[in-house]
Amino acid sequence: MNYSAKQTENHIDNSIPEYTDEVARETEALYQKVSKVITRAEWPQFAPYIYEINRLKKLKDAVILAHNYMTPEIFNCVADFAGDSLQLAQEAAKTDATVIVQAGVHFMAETSKILSPDKTVLIPDMEAGCSLAASITGADVRLLREQYPNVPIVTYVNTSADVKAESDICCTSSNALAIIESFDSDEILMIPDQFLARNIAKQTTKTIHTYAGSCEVHEQFTPDSIKAFRKAWPDAVVIAHPECTPEVVDVCDFSGSTKAMSDYVHNNQPSRVVMITECSMSDNVSVQNPDVEFVRPCNMCPHMKRITLPKILDTLRNMTHEVVVDEDIAERAKMAVERMLAVTS
Ligand code: 13P
Ligand code: SF4
Repeated sequence: MNYSAKQTENHIDNSIPEYTDEVARETEALYQKVSKVITRAEWPQFAPYIYEINRLKKLKDAVILAHNYMTPEIFNCVADFAGDSLQLAQEAAKTDATVIVQAGVHFMAETSKILSPDKTVLIPDMEAGCSLAASITGADVRLLREQYPNVPIVTYVNTSADVKAESDICCTSSNALAIIESFDSDEILMIPDQFLARNIAKQTTKTIHTYAGSCEVHEQFTPDSIKAFRKAWPDAVVIAHPECTPEVVDVCDFSGSTKAMSDYVHNNQPSRVVMITECSMSDNVSVQNPDVEFVRPCNMCPHMKRITLPKILDTLRNMTHEVVVDEDIAERAKMAVERMLAVTS
């Protein structure tokens, strides 16, 4: 992936932080928070990084914005704000911090930079991509415009700034239907996630044209696998992310963004739940819902899993890796993202 980025190689401090008595004492309250999903034996590996990251954050006026798919030690112990793609974009637009560390994938960091051009936006691993973002370029969108003249182009935020810049408006999985319905047009081109587009198409009278992109994590779930979970745990509620195929969503009890899935569990308190999404979701939602039992068939997002505590610490120590977006592209992409935020608010 050809990310536009500035990388500084002059590392200042690469020492491995130690698990001292002070670290143990100062991080004990955080350990209690995650004790359901992290064992006492594992904690000394995480605690020194957590302690040092939280110290450096204050020193450098940095905020960590973490996606719901981050591992529990990141989500619960160093994130200043955690949420779905829409919430992260909203938070990036309003934070007062000088530095944003994006604990998520590259398109999320780019969205933060687009909305906060004067801030320093850092990502712990520049290679944290996304199969959806990789499926389409700005040039592809220009061709699609010729193919579908006068049809509004609604672009999922899981795309590069270049693609957003060619679009009429962005959407996330939590506001896609509202965005589609905000247009008078009876036809919409929804790119690049074919499955999200088909799931939304079931909820509207508009004609939705789709593109061939997909999420490599969610497309792996099949209706047969859902039926097998139901057979094994007949009392379980099964909830899925709308990046799954419509055939999978059809045999689940609920579908929504990562925030909507988390809210569903919180509000309904099912005795047992199966989350058809990325693996860390169950860990994070289970910490917040101790009375719910989680069945954990999941698929791992290899891009999200590139973000680790040692890399976050390295980012804060050395102020790497800075995400930069070409000014003209950023300006046009910002319009598409801000239109989305205006509809959502
Ligand atoms: P959410 O907006 O629902 O958090 O989804 C982002 C994502 O990448 C899911 O795979
Ligand atoms: Fe992209 Fe899928 Fe990973 Fe989300 S889970 S970041 S859509 S590859």
